[in-house]
Amino acid sequence: MRAVVCNGVIFKEEVFTPEALTVKTCPVPSFQDDEVLIKVAASSVNPVDWKILSGKIGPVQAGIVPGFDCSGVVVAVGAAVTRFKVGDEVWADVVERPEGVLKLGAYAEYVATKENKTGLKPTNLPFEQAAVVPLVGLTALQGLQKGDVLKEGAHVLILGGSGGNGICAIQIAKASGATVYTTCSGKNMDFVKSLGADQVIDYTKDDWAVVLKGKNLDCVFDTVGQDGTVPKAVDVLKDNGTIKAIMGGTKESLPRGITFEFFLTNSVNFADLDTLKTLVESGKMRLPVQESFPLDRIADAFKLSMSGRVVGKVGISVSSIMPAVLYYFPAGGRGELARCIAAAGGIGLIEGKPADVDKADFASPSGVPLLKHGALKMAQSTAIEVYLSLLAFPDLTPPMRAVDSQLCSTKEDVIAGFYKVFFNAEMKENKEKAKEELAKVANKWYPVIEKQCPLDGFFNGQGYPTAADVAVMNICDCAWAFGVANRIAGVDWANYPKMRALATRTAEFAAMKEYLAKSATFAANPMGL
Ligand SMILES: NC(=O)c1ccc[n+]([C@@H]2O[C@H](COP(=O)([O-])OP(=O)(O)OC[C@H]3O[C@@H](n4cnc5c(N)ncnc54)[C@H](OP(=O)(O)O)[C@@H]3O)[C@@H](O)[C@H]2O)c1
Repeated sequence: MRAVVCNGVIFKEEVFTPEALTVKTCPVPSFQDDEVLIKVAASSVNPVDWKILSGKIGPVQAGIVPGFDCSGVVVAVGAAVTRFKVGDEVWADVVERPEGVLKLGAYAEYVATKENKTGLKPTNLPFEQAAVVPLVGLTALQGLQKGDVLKEGAHVLILGGSGGNGICAIQIAKASGATVYTTCSGKNMDFVKSLGADQVIDYTKDDWAVVLKGKNLDCVFDTVGQDGTVPKAVDVLKDNGTIKAIMGGTKESLPRGITFEFFLTNSVNFADLDTLKTLVESGKMRLPVQESFPLDRIADAFKLSMSGRVVGKVGISVSSIMPAVLYYFPAGGRGELARCIAAAGGIGLIEGKPADVDKADFASPSGVPLLKHGALKMAQSTAIEVYLSLLAFPDLTPPMRAVDSQLCSTKEDVIAGFYKVFFNAEMKENKEKAKEELAKVANKWYPVIEKQCPLDGFFNGQGYPTAADVAVMNICDCAWAFGVANRIAGVDWANYPKMRALATRTAEFAAMKEYLAKSATFAANPMGL
């Protein structure tokens, strides 16, 4: 997989520059029993990313893959995982410190993370917008919970209203009915007001402590951490009020029962992720992405975040096409061509458990293959093959697509003919009759296919096989039901040399070869015939 790696060992004294980040090929991470493996769609940059890498928080190990936030699709689950299944669309803040060693990893095509740090992503947010929320959303929510201001009648001052944490905090507090005061520079005042802040103070012009003196606020939530903030906060707080800070600190004892607490985000908290999901889905919280960068431009993304002037978040797009999930019993048959098309085109297709889904949701009462891709749920093998071909071979013209769908449909005709024989009680008893009937199917279809097959190269004249070629390969060689039927019927490939040669060429195409070498389904013979 592709992942961002930080070159060299970073010691406290070293000065980090974003150029130290490069994209490298790394192994897909292994996962524990209580973890999910996520195919990452998107991530985000948080100031903590570059603070960690510049050694401000302590030394980090060489070769670390950074990145806290991610959104993506679950592609595998550990044995003890109960809340997620393959194909779920999720978001997470993946940071961990097992035995004191920092573990991140969201700037990669795959990340393994604990089930209890993962939540279902809001259904109304695309992956790129969802990925920017977890760390700042959790921090803002937990800060306001600690300040006990998520209620009608509470008064809170949020310092730094236009940053990632501030934007979330304003909206979360407003959604609970609190009155919100906040600070930002003049250029961001209208934006911050549009999020619902009741009073916005331009910190470049006015001193918030003077403007809000004697307001008797319940809480000051500090996301900026400037020197001198704590004594100023005392002037605007009520007796027993609280200062909750994610930046800065003080050891001073404070008057009138006022307390100060610096806290770190607790990312092991899926209930909080679910609260954020509800807020987003009900339209009460949004977090704009100022700019999104591909993985290769990670250094530019860091530079923007390090400017300290970001409004909203800096996004990282990792994978543009998320894997689809195929639900089909684990043998070739009607599901195998979909698997082969996905493999030939290099798109992710993961196996779901048919028992996990309700066929009626896919508009299918029968056991045909089902496919889920994002919000799309569909059934019927040829329809699925045509859809996957759109993703796998995006450059084909409409006539080329027609050739592909034609051969996929032919494959269906052939398999339907073979199934009629295999699932006929009389034929099960009468082997000679079965052989005769299977041969009839092959003799009806194979000459027609042979006539269409190209002498060399592939059907659509591309440098790679497309669905038509893969369909012929399946008809020739996929064990169930074609390979078994061809053997029993005694198909003589000398009569179909173009078909045979095309199937072999297709199987030798690198991506196809790799798939066939590890596929347990292509060679499966479930009836042992
Ligand atoms: N303790 C924790 O667990 C925890 C968790 C998350 C983040 N953090 C820390 O919290 C800080 C904020 O994070 P973030 O993600 O929200 O940062 P961010 O998105 O990069 O915040 C940038 C914003 O800060 C504003 N800003 C700068 N100086 C300001 C000032 N004096 N008064 C008011 N606003 C000011 C800027 O607005 P203008 O351009 O309008 O000035 C800009 O919009 C970072 O230092 C981060 O490391 C800590």
